[in-house]
Amino acid sequence: MSINKVGVIGTGAMGLGITQVCAQAGLTVTAVKATPGSWERAKKTLEGGLAKSVERGKMAAEDRDALLSRITFTADEHAVAESDLVIESIIEDLETKKALFRRLEHVCRPDAILATNTSTLSVTAMMAVCKHRDRIAGLHFFNPAPVMKLVEIIHGFETTDETIEALLAFSKAIDKDPVIVQDTTGFIVNRLLTPYMLNAIRMLERGTGTIESIDQAMKAGAAHPMGPFELADYIGLDVVEAMAHNIFEDVRHEHHAPPHTLTRLVQLGYLGRKTGKGFYDYAKRPAVQNPALMRPVV
Ligand SMILES: NC(=O)c1ccc[n+]([C@@H]2O[C@H](COP(=O)([O-])OP(=O)(O)OC[C@H]3O[C@@H](n4cnc5c(N)ncnc54)[C@H](O)[C@@H]3O)[C@@H](O)[C@H]2O)c1
Repeated sequence: MSINKVGVIGTGAMGLGITQVCAQAGLTVTAVKATPGSWERAKKTLEGGLAKSVERGKMAAEDRDALLSRITFTADEHAVAESDLVIESIIEDLETKKALFRRLEHVCRPDAILATNTSTLSVTAMMAVCKHRDRIAGLHFFNPAPVMKLVEIIHGFETTDETIEALLAFSKAIDKDPVIVQDTTGFIVNRLLTPYMLNAIRMLERGTGTIESIDQAMKAGAAHPMGPFELADYIGLDVVEAMAHNIFEDVRHEHHAPPHTLTRLVQLGYLGRKTGKGFYDYAKRPAVQNPALMRPVV
């Protein structure tokens, strides 16, 4: 099947990024704000990002206008009824996502593909609440979605080859490099990256180094574009904690449990770049270590 109309549920960092990628590739997109309130702010956030791209000469103003003209923002889930593909990108919580899949099956066409952008949750668990399980899969984008080339296509237990083929063609059409992954917690990238970030946090707790020195070491010594703390702040500490929790629930190994410092930062609402503070304080330029972490934490 060919995919021309895409519905995106959730207009957070990833939902907006996926919306942009699809519209940039010429597809019609319906972006649904998943929580109560107006969708105006989400639209403004996307427009703000695109305005910067135009200012920096990375995008022509007319391409920006054409891209925006292909997107409809709404707060009504029913607006995705005619979509060929619906990608959910709401909060990383299994019960909330399962409830959404149940509702989407009633809203969408029976031949529509329903995909989740979950980072670590089981696609099969979401599939299990659906009747048309053959058309349920994972479509895992990376942050920022307009820049990162990888898409992990997650093969749930009852996803058909036809669905996977359609998602492969879709991923290539939106200029991404897809890989097919079997449905295991964390898939490929997060199964490797989450323990790495958790290890860096434990290293900080042991006093091996500072936030800055550990980040600097991984950038200068391993040629990583960001250090582990910069990466965690970029992903969002609530998302990192959720990933750690989900992997821990699966493997039950203490090594994968969210460390104390991560949990405390999330409790305080320091979620990284999206809230202005995480391991770093982004109100300062250049960003400095979050003052809450100046004292030993364990
Ligand atoms: N941040 C990343 O690096 C990254 C990368 C790939 C995938 N993901 C996944 O994408 C999804 C969204 O993450 P994000 O980084 O965009 O987070 P975000 O915090 O920027 O956005 C979360 C979205 O969920 C919605 N939401 C919050 N509570 C809700 C509820 N109770 N019911 C329904 N919707 C609710 C919010 O309105 C918002 O649209 C998650 O499943 C996450 O694991 C994140």
